Amino acid sequence: MNSFPINSIRKDFPILKSKINNHDLVYFDNAATTQKPQSVIDSISNYYEKYNSNIHRGVHSLAEKATNEFEKTRTKIKKFINAKSNTEIVFTRGTTEGINLISSSLGKYKFSEGDEIIISEMEHHSNIVPWQMIAKEKNLKLNMINVTDEGKIDLNDFKNIISSKTKLVSLVHISNTLGTVNPIKEIVEICNTNNIISVIDGAQASAHSVIDVQNINCDFYVLSAHKMYGPTGVGVVYGKEKLLEEMPPYMGGGEMIKEVKFSGTSYNDLPYKFEAGTPNIGDVIGFKEAINYIENLGKDQIIQYEDKLRDYAQKELNSIDGFRIIGNSENKIGIFSFTIENFHYYDLGLLLDAKGIAVRTGHHCTQPLMDKYNLDGTARVSLALYNTEEEVDFFVDSVKNLLNR
Ligand SMILES: Cc1ncc(COP(=O)(O)O)c(C=O)c1O
Repeated sequence: MNSFPINSIRKDFPILKSKINNHDLVYFDNAATTQKPQSVIDSISNYYEKYNSNIHRGVHSLAEKATNEFEKTRTKIKKFINAKSNTEIVFTRGTTEGINLISSSLGKYKFSEGDEIIISEMEHHSNIVPWQMIAKEKNLKLNMINVTDEGKIDLNDFKNIISSKTKLVSLVHISNTLGTVNPIKEIVEICNTNNIISVIDGAQASAHSVIDVQNINCDFYVLSAHKMYGPTGVGVVYGKEKLLEEMPPYMGGGEMIKEVKFSGTSYNDLPYKFEAGTPNIGDVIGFKEAINYIENLGKDQIIQYEDKLRDYAQKELNSIDGFRIIGNSENKIGIFSFTIENFHYYDLGLLLDAKGIAVRTGHHCTQPLMDKYNLDGTARVSLALYNTEEEVDFFVDSVKNLLNR
């Protein structure tokens, strides 16, 4: 881990200097949202201070500058996930909106009564509820792939529930509760062989693994900027151009039109057809700096560092008496959902907060997964590139002290 510039990285994130309840902040809630480097914060305030303007429709200098900076983010994310073209990159408010865009737009023309959609037991509510809604509206059947006791997708179950009626599979790339990295390339290959549309929820994967949508060959890939050191309120839907072309718009309004007449409206070209109204301009611009930050460090280096930290954390956490990690796939990132015998996760969360340690407690928006494991919730540690072994040690010592074990 020596070559990873952890000390300078920590200085880049101003919030990490905070004291919480008189302790140094230990931020282990990165799966909920990551902290932001100064460069992202500066870029957003720079937009508001120096060139705040609406985009795409003005000829004046500020509008042109704002439009250019906004569109630079599109080019940046296109390269970051290796999409073929900027037309395949649609800005949204986040993963949740992205999945709703896909389900509602595809639902209008692609599905008919009796068609089947497959998700899995480990999905975030954002990848369950939109499909339930469209299934109810169009009389579709929603099938769930089993998750094994280890916290992996049961591939045999997946193959068994595919039928001639299966129209779409929507799956999480990396589980926000288990940390499991799913074999999405293999899954998408099965989808493509069977002419099934594939949607990948990349909310957790975008900052912790290399994303190459052409290599995965999925139809859609969805992500949120705030999980990758960028601002909240910005996300991306990647979609293959052919499908996006066919799909009707998600929302109507300004920007998504070519011509409006009372006799009928024609829609704008991709990707603007899906970007109705004034977008979150400042935050889209800030998102570019988040990607720059990741790229400057190097994704491979980040992954290497996080993998080592995950292994270290796993070893240390397992030394806590009564500690049980939920989800032990051999292919996982630094996300640990856990229970401690005779200690409620909620109490643990509060007591750790008193020591400045932020962990998440509850069902993590995966209630069906909790049901599967007969739990009503867990505590969760989720690591990011600025976390350290010392923080893991402090966490483990704090838990041991609280438990008096
Ligand atoms: C796997 C997964 N999918 C979807 C979401 C929803 O993301 P957002 O709240 O940014 O829309 C999350 C957020 O925690 C997530 O972890």
